[in-house]
Amino acid sequence: MTLKQVFEEHPERRFIMFGGKGGLGKTTFSAATAYWLAKQGKKVLVFSVDPQASLSDIFQKDIFGKGAVKIMDNLWAQEIDADSHIKAYQNEIRKKILDMYGFEKVPDEIEQYIQAASAEPAMEESAIFDAVVDIMVEGNYDYYIYDLVPLGHALYYLSMAKVYDEWINKITKLREEMREYEEMVSRMKRQKETEEDAILTELQYIRGRINASSQILTDKVKTAFFFVVIPEEMILIDTRKAAELFAKFDVPLSGYVVNRVLPKELLQQNVPAYLKNRIIMQDKYLAQIDDILGGQVTARVPELERDVTGLEMIRKLSEIMYGS
Ligand SMILES: Nc1ncnc2c1ncn2[C@@H]1O[C@H](COP(=O)(O)OP(=O)(O)OP(=O)(O)O)[C@@H](O)[C@H]1O
Ligand SMILES: [Mg+2]
Repeated sequence: MTLKQVFEEHPERRFIMFGGKGGLGKTTFSAATAYWLAKQGKKVLVFSVDPQASLSDIFQKDIFGKGAVKIMDNLWAQEIDADSHIKAYQNEIRKKILDMYGFEKVPDEIEQYIQAASAEPAMEESAIFDAVVDIMVEGNYDYYIYDLVPLGHALYYLSMAKVYDEWINKITKLREEMREYEEMVSRMKRQKETEEDAILTELQYIRGRINASSQILTDKVKTAFFFVVIPEEMILIDTRKAAELFAKFDVPLSGYVVNRVLPKELLQQNVPAYLKNRIIMQDKYLAQIDDILGGQVTARVPELERDVTGLEMIRKLSEIMYGS
């Protein structure tokens, strides 16, 4: 099945992801797919949590941390600024503590705890994850294209059970620590114990949101996940390992896209030996790809004459990927 057929035959797959190792073309394909869908009259949001701001680069527009920015008719792009989400998350915790205990200032010990907790990777993942949930449950767009970070990280996001556990652990731990302060404070202020129900309610709310989004991301009906590969030995080895992991996490795979294929016709021309060698090498791995992945390959994308940046190159690529 071609990429185009996957989209045409499965209009219910509205959450689109391109995964793969670093630098293989995930952002490029996300942008080209978003462009093509928008041209088909679909309302599309392409978004990322990548601090490198690659969508800003490819659309040649500073969109980092600015919410959903309109790129053209039907197409919006958004880059989540994880740091500001972490700060917002911290402030929320501070505010809750202040409200709950009627403090005028967050006590130093609690402030230290908030700082320490936010330095942990799990807190960052949680804040990012929370932002992604916000975007995906909103439901304003026909298509959501999640421009993923490189595979290792993406696996982390996709192993929702793990993220979920860490998040709940974190909050449960916070809750336990708060209870210590609670006792201390009520002793100090002789105030009646604050209801812990507020925190439990919060936990249940978060649990509900995580469940909702992990269902979206691993939903066999609504999600299309494409693997980006290039015809090189190491990439194929890694991809096979990753595919097994994804299968383990129940991520539904819609197909593979092979990128940076050198045109074989060049062999008929008088090209330098090194280029000839690369083409022959690619040919070998392309044959392997066909062997192993066969019908799962949805597109072969040639090596273009320059980087894909700006709408004109994105349009050109989308025509190669989807036909004009
Ligand atoms: N077929 C192609 N022809 C020419 N250049 C390409 C092609 N595909 C991708 N590129 C270029 O390769 C670079 C890396 O692509 P891209 O940023 O899409 O990779 P990525 O998988 O998103 O990387 P990261 O893992 O860092 O997010 C970019 O400069 C892009 O323009
Ligand atoms: Mg990228």
